[in-house]
Amino acid sequence: MPELSSAAYEWRGDVNDEELEGLHAACFDHVATVRRWSAQLHAHSLGWVTARHEGRLLGFVNVAWDGASHAFLVDTAVAPDTRLHGIGQELVRRAAGGARAAGCAWLHVDFEPDYLHFYIDRCGLHRTEAGLLALS
Ligand SMILES: CC(C)(COP(=O)(O)OP(=O)(O)OC[C@H]1O[C@@H](n2cnc3c(N)ncnc32)[C@H](O)[C@@H]1OP(=O)(O)O)[C@@H](O)C(=O)NCCC(=O)NCCS
Repeated sequence: MPELSSAAYEWRGDVNDEELEGLHAACFDHVATVRRWSAQLHAHSLGWVTARHEGRLLGFVNVAWDGASHAFLVDTAVAPDTRLHGIGQELVRRAAGGARAAGCAWLHVDFEPDYLHFYIDRCGLHRTEAGLLALS
């Protein structure tokens, strides 16, 4: 187990496509494929936060936006063997800081009921109603 209190966090830090796809696959339960994460993030995201320890990518969150005042958390992810050490909470805190610094007024996220405690009680977001439409 790495010494997680010394994890290093970075806003818009470099990410390698393969390492991020590996983390995403481990966290969202899919088979890792080839995905051009870095190009996608630079082209479309307001920013993202990485958490690393001794070079290893332990956590990631993507911050999408509307180009003005609304930012959206996507894909909050912490490696399974390093969970419950506050890394997720710190990723969200830094994502909020990055969005605030970019002039955003609101940070949104939608999530399944299991994550209520994480996002509402621990990350400080307020509970809202949200909607979702499957497009494919
Ligand atoms: C959600 C996730 C990012 C949390 O990361 P983490 O580093 O373990 O979170 P933290 O250690 O900062 O947890 C902070 C608090 O949230 C709680 N928490 C974390 N994950 C939780 C979960 N899945 N369900 C309920 N509470 C959770 C922790 O217990 C802790 O609360 P406590 O202080 O009362 O003990 C991580 O579980 C993950 O990657 N999950 C799989 C991917 C996913 O589904 N992401 C959410 C997409 S919306």
